[in-house]
Amino acid sequence: MKDETLFHRYDVVIVGAGGAGLAAALYAARSGAVRVAVLSKMLPVRSHTGTAQGGIGAALGNHEEDHPEWHVFDTIKGSDYLADQDAVRVLCYEAVELVYELEHMGLPFDRTPSGRIAQRPFGGHTNNVTKQPVRRACHAADRTGHMILQTLYQQCLKHRVTFFDEFQVLDVILSQGVAGGVVALEIATGQFHVFHARAVILATGGWGRVWQITSNAHSFTGDGAAIVLRHGIPLEDMEFFQFHPTGIYKLGILVTEGARGEGGVLINGRGERFMARYAPNLKDLASRDVISRAIYLEIREGRGVDGKDYVHLDIRPETINHYFDLDGKKNPDGTPRRITAADIQTRLPDITDFVRTYLGIDPLTQPIPVQPTAHYAMGGIPTDLHGRVVVDAHNTVLPGLYAAGEVACVSVHGANRLGTNSLVDILVFGRRSGLDAVRHCRENGFAPLPKQPEEAARAMLEGLRTRPPNQERIADIRAEMQRVMMDYVGVFREATGIEKAIHTLRALQQCYQSAGIHDKSRCFNTELLEAWELGCLLDLAEVTAVAALARTETRGCHTREDYPQRDDANWLKHSLAFRTAQGIQLQYKPVTILDYPPQERIY
Ligand code: FUM
Repeated sequence: MKDETLFHRYDVVIVGAGGAGLAAALYAARSGAVRVAVLSKMLPVRSHTGTAQGGIGAALGNHEEDHPEWHVFDTIKGSDYLADQDAVRVLCYEAVELVYELEHMGLPFDRTPSGRIAQRPFGGHTNNVTKQPVRRACHAADRTGHMILQTLYQQCLKHRVTFFDEFQVLDVILSQGVAGGVVALEIATGQFHVFHARAVILATGGWGRVWQITSNAHSFTGDGAAIVLRHGIPLEDMEFFQFHPTGIYKLGILVTEGARGEGGVLINGRGERFMARYAPNLKDLASRDVISRAIYLEIREGRGVDGKDYVHLDIRPETINHYFDLDGKKNPDGTPRRITAADIQTRLPDITDFVRTYLGIDPLTQPIPVQPTAHYAMGGIPTDLHGRVVVDAHNTVLPGLYAAGEVACVSVHGANRLGTNSLVDILVFGRRSGLDAVRHCRENGFAPLPKQPEEAARAMLEGLRTRPPNQERIADIRAEMQRVMMDYVGVFREATGIEKAIHTLRALQQCYQSAGIHDKSRCFNTELLEAWELGCLLDLAEVTAVAALARTETRGCHTREDYPQRDDANWLKHSLAFRTAQGIQLQYKPVTILDYPPQERIY
């Protein structure tokens, strides 16, 4: 690393160029009042939002009756009543105008025959009267996230947002109780940069790389969450990490829920459509926690395919037609709806391609081997409805610091997120953060920078770079962390296993302190960056396991085999995990309940 540090000044600095970061940047920049910079560790259009496939949820009602209020109820029920209901209301009502705004920005949504935005069914989204699936997911084939990313990026360029691509943010500058900027490493040169800012928005995404089988990109290492945790800011509801039911077997690559929205079904090793036993009403379109659990139970009871640990997702036209007839689905003119291989290819071009590429099979003629895959963090940095980071159980705001998207916990997803709601979340709360950051800049100057704000990050990274390689290998530590998290803090959990995981993680943290790397160079040292990212993952894995051990109930995706019931009397509350000198400490804060008191969840 060059020793000289470069200094920059922007009103709003955004870390992360996925959908949340870009939405925040766009709405802040569009105000015309502030200079906005986005720092991204990769090229923005390669951000993880690009892998969101099946659709963005909004109650447009383009095919059939639908209402934002139904979306509110489905989201709260899906969350197993842990979501804050004021935040869910904001999410579902603002979704509608934001989808139309994306359309006006040029996003190429698929169309209904009459030219409206096309919508498909997705898990847990229902007509609240008939209790049947409703078409709410607005889609651009199975590339919806990719299209959102491209659209927002183009708009950001138009509105003169400045991008710093391939900059790894290593620290947030907190000075006299307010946010004052960030410290970043320019990956190409190894030079340190300090970005002095009036407002900082963290939009760094999730941390699925904690687990062995994940749909998440290699870059999804929880950087923003780990950085703030080290500053004493708590993380909320970390025990809740969603497993998407359909990852490609052994690889974890996502096969969109849109495949089931288009009529695909899950089949066990006996050829049975098993979801009918677990969710008689919604079957393959139940919420993700229900389906992932069901897949594991089938496998555990010996009904995996060929006795192995996977089931089949069947999207062959004959299967879809068979079940659509069985379920009485009809065309508007009353004839049975028939789907062709060409229809499936057009509606799901990416996932059919992935399956051909990675499994060497044609999903139009053969069923797809799938297993649950670590997909999405419901927890994260606690924020209020404007994306402002809050630092305690009283929701005290840390001025100038914001978080949006998967790294944040507003909380709209509670204990289990509905599919399509992550794309809504990034837009709604990305926009709100950007707009509130502009307000903050209007009312506040730049916080004074501490002397040499980059020194702690530089010392830590130099320590890692110059440490001689020894028997503790970064790759081995990462593999062991991923194994124990998969085995003991995955879909099913119980106390003894979680305790084992915590014990192993603490030992791995010790090994990490002495692990060295081989590449001593300064330019594009990806071995060094991966080592730094592993430190973030280890911290987040420990917090997840500690919070999971403490929560002695089953709620949403957190299935405690030793505590199989939801326990509203004791656990209808959010966890806040603090990192202290004495280890991880937990506090709790109440859930905001407005119109929908907890009920039994039946799908
Ligand atoms: O299944 C999917 O297309 C994933 C969408 C989501 O996570 O919301």
